[in-house]
Amino acid sequence: MSTVSATPHALAINGGTPVRPTFLPYGRQSIDEADIQAVVDVLRSDWLTTGPKVGEFEEQFAARVGAAHAVSFSSGTAALHAAAFAAGLKAGDEAITTPMTFAATANCVLYQGATPVFADVSSDTLNLDPEKLAQRISSKTRALLPVDYAGHPADLTAVAELSQKHGLVVIEDACHALGAEYRGQPVGSIADMTVFSFHPVKHITTGEGGMVSTNNPKFAETLRRFRNHGISSDARQRQSAGQWHYEMVLLGFNYRLPDFACALGIQQLHKLDANLARRREIAARYTAAFRAIPGVIPPAVRPETNPAWHLYPIRLVLKNLIADRTEIFRALRAENIGVNVHYIPVHFHPYYRDRFGYKGGEFPVAEDAYSRLISLPMFHGMNDQDVQDVIAAVRKVAGSYSR
Ligand SMILES: Cc1ncc(COP(=O)(O)O)c(C=O)c1O
Repeated sequence: MSTVSATPHALAINGGTPVRPTFLPYGRQSIDEADIQAVVDVLRSDWLTTGPKVGEFEEQFAARVGAAHAVSFSSGTAALHAAAFAAGLKAGDEAITTPMTFAATANCVLYQGATPVFADVSSDTLNLDPEKLAQRISSKTRALLPVDYAGHPADLTAVAELSQKHGLVVIEDACHALGAEYRGQPVGSIADMTVFSFHPVKHITTGEGGMVSTNNPKFAETLRRFRNHGISSDARQRQSAGQWHYEMVLLGFNYRLPDFACALGIQQLHKLDANLARRREIAARYTAAFRAIPGVIPPAVRPETNPAWHLYPIRLVLKNLIADRTEIFRALRAENIGVNVHYIPVHFHPYYRDRFGYKGGEFPVAEDAYSRLISLPMFHGMNDQDVQDVIAAVRKVAGSYSR
């Protein structure tokens, strides 16, 4: 499509020199010697799976997000499943969520035999639009599942008002938003249950891992049982009590997070504030640079929030560009910038189309955003040169394709 020739400033996709010689991923973990030592120490101890580090990690995490309880899981997806169970979701129930998310948010509703219902998003934040959400509430609705897209908290006051009015449970998917704040309160202390992920591209990592925070002791108890086959005590508690007897009281799973993963989580948690500060710094630099580039819209930030910047998704202004998202994406990749797209709206996936008959066109704001979204590299381990390279590549590519 492009007619740019192979001059020194030519796009790499057209044979020019890339902005940087090595590939910069969109996200990656940072692991230091203290992290490694903490894991090795547990590997040399008596407890590989549920041991002392699990409770320690949960207590420190709960304190950090301002919740009374935190329950760890083997992944964010397992944590979502457990929260859907604890909320009492079952066949015949509906839970409302956003199409602008990873499929796991909606899948956890299906795991419980209930039906996920989507509501469209607000065009600035791409978080659930409270008006659209209100329109989707029916006599079958039991839970609301807002997602803090890219790390920007959802409209949590409006969601709480709707849940109180209709007697619904709020499960906040904060897999992008560890460390974010909403009206001065930490995400994790606001919804009935808040779900986090510790996948390597997140703010802290345990390899795979997840957490649910809650102020409700009943939810906490159910979550603990659900992740351990529905059994009312763990092996370590039985050993220390000198008991063999246990009771399975509900149908649970093995969703436990091992002790060595929790040891890594504890170390990583010490670095959360520094990680957040670096992500916020990168976001501020990006936003300042991209405001000046026609054809690119930086992500919006509402004044009542302090986002955690898991992702930095720009939107293209296609009318100002002579290429579509796919070509711009390929051009940025050729410059060695590891761009990505978050998200293919969930109702576009073949499984959801086939099962629920979605044809496209149902959620116009999310669908329009999807056609224009590109996630730029965003992780706390990026150095200043990496940040400069991303800005230079966006400038170069948007400039070459501008109308
Ligand atoms: C919004 C959202 N929800 C849920 C998940 C699932 O988390 P995990 O990968 O830890 O299972 C992710 C994962 O990236 C996510 O982005």
